Amino acid sequence: MKVLRTIGDYKLHLQQVKSGSRTVGFVPTMGYLHEGHMSLVARAKAETDHVVMSIFVNPLQFGPGEDFERYPRDEERDLALASQAGADAVFLPSAAEMYPSAVKTTVSVSGLTERLCGASRPGHFSGVATVVSKLFHIVQPDRAYFGMKDAQQVAVIQQMVNDLNFPLAVVPCPTLRESDGLAMSSRNVYLSREERKQAPVLYRALQSIDGWMNEEPHMTGAMLEERLRRMIESAPDADIDYVQVLTYPGLEPVEAPLGAADTFIAAVAVKFGNTRLIDNRLFQKQ
Ligand code: PAJ
Repeated sequence: MKVLRTIGDYKLHLQQVKSGSRTVGFVPTMGYLHEGHMSLVARAKAETDHVVMSIFVNPLQFGPGEDFERYPRDEERDLALASQAGADAVFLPSAAEMYPSAVKTTVSVSGLTERLCGASRPGHFSGVATVVSKLFHIVQPDRAYFGMKDAQQVAVIQQMVNDLNFPLAVVPCPTLRESDGLAMSSRNVYLSREERKQAPVLYRALQSIDGWMNEEPHMTGAMLEERLRRMIESAPDADIDYVQVLTYPGLEPVEAPLGAADTFIAAVAVKFGNTRLIDNRLFQKQ
């Protein structure tokens, strides 16, 4: 596995890869890898010839007072895991390599970024869209793999790729979970023992939706939000940021009732202590 720390070194590497007309699969990450990240590499390996992972904790997507400084980092462990997962190359730039001078050009996707995480983290998605644009230009992938745990991120990136004609396919991939249902996340290490015990309530609430919809065929988005809220609040340390039922990928309010909707997403963000967890479930008519 090649480790490339500069854009120049990556370009030389890419020339060799592309001379064999091989397809490039790309898995962008912020490191502190877990099985969720590894599953994206496995999918990329199955669908492309050469898999590139990037590891970069992007300062642009963290707001003031967020966890940029304390975001977990472990380069040695990450490189071992990336190699184990079968990545062919890891692009691991420094902040100075990515942002040699103050950024004056940013990418922002309107509408989609005003709801859910965009409402509680102003500027976050512009930071994501800007760094992902830069990474797409540097890495030049044919296919880019993103986890649906961050469903809003997938919608934003897909919109950006369509609007700006990036020559690549965005591939959404399923959320990997711990055995008790908690969505895997680099931030789970922040949870205290007690918070970790309560956190699977998000998954249990999302799993209850099928039963509730069966009991109440005319359930509306607002009714479902209320039920989810009540169940999540049963965990004593859960501090709800949002519980929302919206269309996907448009993220508009769902015209009632849910049973008639083609597609909707139930998305939640909940703080346990200082740790903000997100999760969601997407419902699609067959
Ligand atoms: P990060 O949080 O490290 O996530 C990297 C990728 O892994 C994202 O596509 C994310 O959705 C996916 N992922 C995270 N947890 C997952 C899980 N439990 N199952 C499946 N996939 C999972 O998302 C980012 O980094 C950044 O915003 C980034 C896109 C790299 C831009 O900086």
